[in-house]
Amino acid sequence: MDKYIVKGKANIKGTVSVNGAKNAGLPILAATLLAEGKYEITNVPNLTDIRTMAKLLNNIGAEIEWGDGKIKIKTNGCKNHEAPYELVKTMRASIYVLGPLVARKGEARVSFPGGCALGARPIDLHLKGLRKLGANIELKHGYIYATANRLKGTGIYFEKKSVGATANILMASVLAEGETKIQNAACEPEIAALAEFLVRMGADIKGIGTETLIIKGKEKLHSADASLIPDRIETGTLLLSAAITRGSITVEDCNPDHLGIVLDKLEEAGFQISTTENSISLNSKGPKHPIEITTNPYPGFPTDLQPQFCSLLSTIEGDSSILETIFSDRFIYTTELQRLGANLKLNENELIIKGGAKLSGAPVMASDIRAGASLVVASLYAEGKTEISRIYHLDRGHDKLEEKLQKLGADIKRVK
Ligand code: UD1
Repeated sequence: MDKYIVKGKANIKGTVSVNGAKNAGLPILAATLLAEGKYEITNVPNLTDIRTMAKLLNNIGAEIEWGDGKIKIKTNGCKNHEAPYELVKTMRASIYVLGPLVARKGEARVSFPGGCALGARPIDLHLKGLRKLGANIELKHGYIYATANRLKGTGIYFEKKSVGATANILMASVLAEGETKIQNAACEPEIAALAEFLVRMGADIKGIGTETLIIKGKEKLHSADASLIPDRIETGTLLLSAAITRGSITVEDCNPDHLGIVLDKLEEAGFQISTTENSISLNSKGPKHPIEITTNPYPGFPTDLQPQFCSLLSTIEGDSSILETIFSDRFIYTTELQRLGANLKLNENELIIKGGAKLSGAPVMASDIRAGASLVVASLYAEGKTEISRIYHLDRGHDKLEEKLQKLGADIKRVK
C-alpha cells in the first residue's frame, strides 16, 4: 500500500489547474446506460472511483476505451443487469446504475451498499422514489432486485436533500411515461451537470439547478458527449493547501461560482480572494481570524471540505467551530489530526477548534477521501515529517495530488 511522506513547513506558491469533478463523472457515466450508442466523455480525472464505474459499465456490457482524460463508451445491449458486491463494496456510487437499468431494461440487481466510514448512509430515498415511479423492489441476499414494466411519472418529494437519490430518480424518470416532478431535489452543480447531459441525450427537464425538477419522460434517448465540470472539492483543497502555509495560489480551470460560501469563509478568516470567470487567486497577507462553519446541502458549505478547513482553522489563533449536519461520522478524521497536534473538542456534531496549535509531523492514517485530504493539508504546515498511510482513499478522489503539490513547492513523496 502506498504512503505519502511529507516534510512540513512548506511555502505553497504558484498556479495549478484542477481536474474534472469525480462526483459529476460518476452519474454521467451511469447515465450512458440509458441509451444505446457511442459516447465521449472528456476532462475525466484518472481516479479509482471513475475506473470502478467504468468496470461496472463494462460488466453490464458497455465497451470502454480510455484515453488521456477521455473515456469513449459504446453501449449496445446489456449482457447483464447487475452491479456485483465486489464492485459496490469499494464505491457506494455504484448505486447510480440502479435508476438507469430499471428504467431502460426493466430489471436491475445491485448489491446493497451498506454503511461506510462516514456512518450510516441509507438509500431509502432512492428506493422510495423508484417504488413511487412503479418499480417493484425486493431486498434479498444483500442485493436490491428492481423490476418494472415502463416506469410511470409521478410526484416525488424528498424528505431530505440527497445528491445520490436526486441523481438516481432523475435518471429513472427521463424514460418514464408522463411527467415526474421532483421536489426538494439536491441543487449541487454535479446534479445540474447530469441534468444538462441528459437533456443533450434528448431528455426534457425543466428547473435545472433548482429544488424542483420537472421531467417529461421520453420513450427513447440517444447518446451524447460531455465534458466534466471542474472539481470544486479539489479546488477548495488546493486553496486550503496554500492558505495553511500562508502562501499564495492561483487555481485555474475551476468555477468560482461553485465555491461561493467557501470563498466567503476564507475571506472571513482573513485571506484575500480574487476571481476571474475560471480562476481563483488566494493571498495570505494580513491578520487571521477564527470562524464558524455549518455544513449544508449546496449552496451551503460542503461537508466534503470541512475536514480540510479544520486543518487550516487549527493554525489560526482563537476558537473556531464546525457544525456538521450531513454525515453522522464525518468527524472520524479528528483523532488523526489530533495526533499531529490539533486541539479539537467534539461535542456530538459540533467540533470546537482551539486554534493556534503548533502542529508536528507524525505517522497518521487516512480513513476516507476527505479525511486524507485534511491530513495532507495539515502535514504541509506541520513541523517535521508526516507519514500518511492508506492513501488509496485519496486516490479515489484526487488525481496526482502529490505532483500538483510538488509543483507548488511541497516536499511530498509517494512511497510503496
Ligand atoms: C454525495 C457525494 C459526497 C458528498 C455528499 C453530500 C457523490 C458520489 N458523493 O454523496 O461526496 O459528501 O453527496 O454532499 O456525489 N440520505 C438518506 N437516505 C438516502 C440518501 C441519503 O437519509 O436514501 C442522507 C444521508 O445519510 C446524508 C444526506 O442524506 O445524511 C445526504 O446524503 P447524499 O446527498 O445522498 O450523499 P451521497 O449522494 O451519498
